[in-house]
Formats: sequence, C-alpha cells, structure tokens
Amino acid sequence: MVDDLPDGLVLRHPGADDQRRVLAVLDDWWAGFQGDAGSLQRSLLLPRLFFQHFTDSSYLVERADGRLVAFLIGFMSQSQPEAAYIHFVGVDPSLRRRGVAEGLYRRFFRLAAARGRSRVQCITSPGNATSLAFHTGLGFQVEPGDITIDDVAAHRDYDGPGLHRVVFTRTLADQISPPRTPAVRDIRVCFLGDSFTAGVGDPTRLGWVGRLAARTERRGVDLTAYNLGIRMDTSTRIRARWRHECLPRLPEEQEARLVLSFGVNDMTWDGQGPRVPPDTSVANLVALLAEALPLLPVLMVGPPPSGDPGRDERVAALDERYAAVCAEHDVPYVAVFAALKDQPSWRQGIADGDGAHPAAAGYAQLTDLVFDPWWRWLEDPRPGRTHRQARPRS
Ligand SMILES: CC(C)(COP(=O)(O)OP(=O)(O)OC[C@H]1O[C@@H](n2cnc3c(N)ncnc32)[C@H](O)[C@@H]1OP(=O)(O)O)[C@@H](O)C(=O)NCCC(=O)NCCS
Repeated sequence: MVDDLPDGLVLRHPGADDQRRVLAVLDDWWAGFQGDAGSLQRSLLLPRLFFQHFTDSSYLVERADGRLVAFLIGFMSQSQPEAAYIHFVGVDPSLRRRGVAEGLYRRFFRLAAARGRSRVQCITSPGNATSLAFHTGLGFQVEPGDITIDDVAAHRDYDGPGLHRVVFTRTLADQISPPRTPAVRDIRVCFLGDSFTAGVGDPTRLGWVGRLAARTERRGVDLTAYNLGIRMDTSTRIRARWRHECLPRLPEEQEARLVLSFGVNDMTWDGQGPRVPPDTSVANLVALLAEALPLLPVLMVGPPPSGDPGRDERVAALDERYAAVCAEHDVPYVAVFAALKDQPSWRQGIADGDGAHPAAAGYAQLTDLVFDPWWRWLEDPRPGRTHRQARPRS
C-alpha cells in the first residue's frame, strides 16, 4: 500500500515527553529556512499542549532504535465540524522522497474521514517550495489570497504582522476509494553496471537503483528491479556478461527493460593509460546496444564524477561520447556528470567515504536526476518505434 512505512520504521502517537525531541530536530530538518526568525517561529509553533491534548490525531515515526525520523501534528477542528487541520509535519532529510510524509497524511485523511470530516486544511510559509510541491502533489488546492509571493497566492499578515501564509485545502471525498492507482503494470528491469549501480558507499543500502525502484513502485508500477552492478566492472566485462545475466531474468512474455550505467572504471588509470581506452569503451557500448536493442528497450545513465581529477576529466569526455552514441541509437541517455560534479553533498560523501563513492544524500541526488527521464521512458521507451521483437534464445 502507498501508505506503508519503509522497512524498519515504527509509527506511534506522541506523548508529552516527545515535545522536546521534536523541537530538537526542527532546525536541522528545516535546514535553517528563513534564518533565526524562522527558527524562532518554528520553535514557538509546538507548545507542550500539542503533545498533551492532540495526541490521538498526531503521529511520530521512529527507527527501531528509537531515533525520531518523522512527525505529524494534526487535529479535528473544534469550531468547524467538517474540517480537520494538519498543523506541522517534518521528515528527517535522510528519509525524504520515500513516501513517509505521504503515508502520514493519508493515515490522517482516513482518520479525519472516519470522524466525519470532509476537508483538511493546513498552511505553509511562502517560499517553502518543497512544502508547496508536496501539498499540491497530494491534491491540496492553494486558497485564493490577497498577495502573491513567488507566483503563489498568499494571505498577508495571516499569523501576525509580516507572517504571511499560503493556505491549503483538500477535500476528503476520495477517502472511500484507493489513494492511487493500484499496481497493475508488471515490468522487469535489469540495471547493469558498476559499483555506483550497486550503491557502494550508501549506508541505507538503497543506492540510486533502490530509491528509483521504491519511487516507481509508489507510482503504481509493479517493478522487479534486478541490480546487476559489480564493483570495478568495465564496459568490456559488462558487454561480455550482459546476455547471460540479463536474459534469464527477463522472460519474453513479460515487459522487460535494460538500464546501463558504466564508464568510471574504464577511465581508471592503471599505470600506463585508462583501463579501457576511450575508443574501446565507446565500441563496447556500440556493440552492446547492437546486441540488446533488437531484444529490449534500453536506457543509459551516464558515468558520475568520482573525485579523482584526472579520472573525472576523462569521464567527462567519455560522457559526451556515450551521449552521442545513445542519440544515434535513439536510446535515452541521462547525463549526470555535470550536475553532480560540484554538488556539495556528492563531493562530501566521497570525501567522508572511500574517496570515490557518495553516501546516501549523493545517491538521493542522483536518483532525482534520473527519475523523470526514467519515468518518461517507462511510459514510452522509444517514441515512434516498435521496440520489442522476437528474442532469439542462445
Ligand atoms: C515536505 C516534507 C514533509 C515531505 O516529506 P517526504 O517524506 O520527503 O515526502 P514524500 O516522500 O511523502 O513525497 C510525496 C510526494 O510529494 C512531492 N514531493 C515531496 N518532496 C518534494 C520535493 N522536494 N520536490 C518536489 N516534489 C516533492 C512528490 O510528488 C512526492 O512523490 P514522489 O516522490 O513519488 O515524486 C519534507 O520535505 C520535509 O520535512 N521538509 C521540511 C519541513 C517542511 O517544509 N514541512 C512542511 C511545512 S510544515
């Protein structure tokens, strides 16, 4: 179900003792949004009374070791019998985009509907783009206001002088039907690549493939994602192994796809030159596409930066050549190198880790870069072409 929590997380109602734990995470989770003034406002938004008198309509999410990772404070309106109100919500940055907040909201929607409420209201600060995207994505409408800030209607001085707010309302009319399209489409995808594909360095063990798969599943696709990333693998080895590793996992009668991602190990200096010369690396991709495309739709994710200046320079050049090959073959290519090169969390993950691989935040960024092109490709792998032909068994 869409509102199931990720594995290892536990949901419960808060109690009075939880107030200080929630207050303690606000600055970190809001990343200092609106500076000291914002920090002060947030700390004043959660007096103890919320943890005494609104507990049965509020939720905390914790890891098995008790660490707080999300909260939702909400209640049924005393004065408007048709309304429920979500006062405050936050999710630990390391668990974002995994459906945690959505799960809490949907749980609250069901509770409110069961208590006879027909709409939910909440507010946010103008400029909180994540909150805006999240709420509108969940079906909230922005109420008309008397001022426009960052192209969004807001209410001037809503919470006091200078405290403008965006007001959201969502009907609960859909609470008798499932929240999203049920999983109907069964797709098998092999992710063939190297250590980045395997998610090396990510303490959550999700990597970009796991995050991508989870997000896809939440959108109603029954996805079987085979992670075939091997540390140190080059394009030469990947080309040699693709057929016998992928084809048994992709039965002909199922919708099946192939995602490629390699190149960093090719460009590793082995004393005399790159482990795989760039021309060979490009020839490997051409050969692999020639073998795979008659059988399967293919998408390629370009090689990312890995913190070694010389290798990164060679990878940047290879990235451009791979992009050109894919364009010639009508294969979608997701170039990630340039976008990640100067990203602080990508670089920091490498510096704090093994010197080549990012940590959880870096993999989350990589996932963000890949998700939209991936989703478009899932919906339409090669516009205007017949992509599936009979597959010879070898
Ligand atoms: C807003 C917040 C609660 C969302 O939590 P979350 O668990 O990451 O959100 P979910 O994973 O449930 O996201 C559900 C959907 O909302 C939308 N969404 C969430 N974060 C988004 C972002 N940063 N950019 C664009 N869309 C986003 C997406 O449509 C997402 O679905 P998808 O991942 O399948 O595309 C979280 O970012 C947060 O704690 N932010 C800081 C605190 C805050 O601003 N709270 C809200 C104001 S009180």
